[in-house]
Amino acid sequence: MWVQQTAKSSLERIATSPLLGPFGRPLLRAVQYALSLHHREVVSYDQPERASAIERVREILAGWPTQVMSADEAYMIRCTVLSTAKVEGDLAEVGVFRGTSAKVICEAKGDRPLHLFDTFEGLPPTSRFDSGFQAGQYACSLDSVGDYLKDFRNVQFYKGHFPMTGEPIKSRCFSFVHLDVDLFESTVAALQFFYPRMNPGAILISHDYVAFAGVRRAFDEFFENKCEPVVELSGNQCLVVKITPPIPYADRQLS
Ligand SMILES: C[S@@+](CC[C@H](N)C(=O)[O-])C[C@H]1O[C@@H](n2cnc3c(N)ncnc32)[C@H](O)[C@@H]1O
Repeated sequence: MWVQQTAKSSLERIATSPLLGPFGRPLLRAVQYALSLHHREVVSYDQPERASAIERVREILAGWPTQVMSADEAYMIRCTVLSTAKVEGDLAEVGVFRGTSAKVICEAKGDRPLHLFDTFEGLPPTSRFDSGFQAGQYACSLDSVGDYLKDFRNVQFYKGHFPMTGEPIKSRCFSFVHLDVDLFESTVAALQFFYPRMNPGAILISHDYVAFAGVRRAFDEFFENKCEPVVELSGNQCLVVKITPPIPYADRQLS
């Protein structure tokens, strides 16, 4: 899995290099297609409702020439958003990039408020626990993501380095949190911020837990002394269901 992810991120860099010009992206798509045939997943979407949901998720992913998550991973996000409809609280995502996973969340969230956090200037500097990433990777302008998600109600964007940008929502509680930040320090900051603000039954799902050592380390260290198990999923995600109540507002800090 790690090898696959590293290969994917290197291929993406090669595909967008000016050396290959207009041939880069078609070449990348051909290689991705070949890889997907080789690593075909055994997941059943035969049931009509599941079939149309995975079809919709695939359409969203197909809107972009390169993909940062698989259809099964996007489907998991959709399922967790839907399943938390009965839990009180807002939704949040840290790591929006072009807005692909945010769109999956938007289509499943109903009217619940969604808070979207990103630098919109790409990844912050990496730590010694991260490898294969560069500061500035995955930059995408807030304007273009805002336009991409303009049809959805109750969606707020926060541009800048998280958790500094968390100030406006520090009094909120959450039913669903999606992390897709790739890096150790960003993951630690997001866990420190959201965990104490999640209601019982709320779900936190994170990309990169399986493939990236920094993200795995952040989760394993953070949850070492907590009662919630970290569930590794079949793709590159992990999931946590909050059991304990949020900390009282008066005791909250930004991180
Ligand atoms: C792999 S991309 C996210 C992909 C996105 N979920 C999608 O579906 O396209 C990782 C993103 O995390 C953001 N990021 C990482 N650490 C951050 C931090 N501390 N504050 C804000 N954004 C951060 C980067 O700017 C980048 O856009």
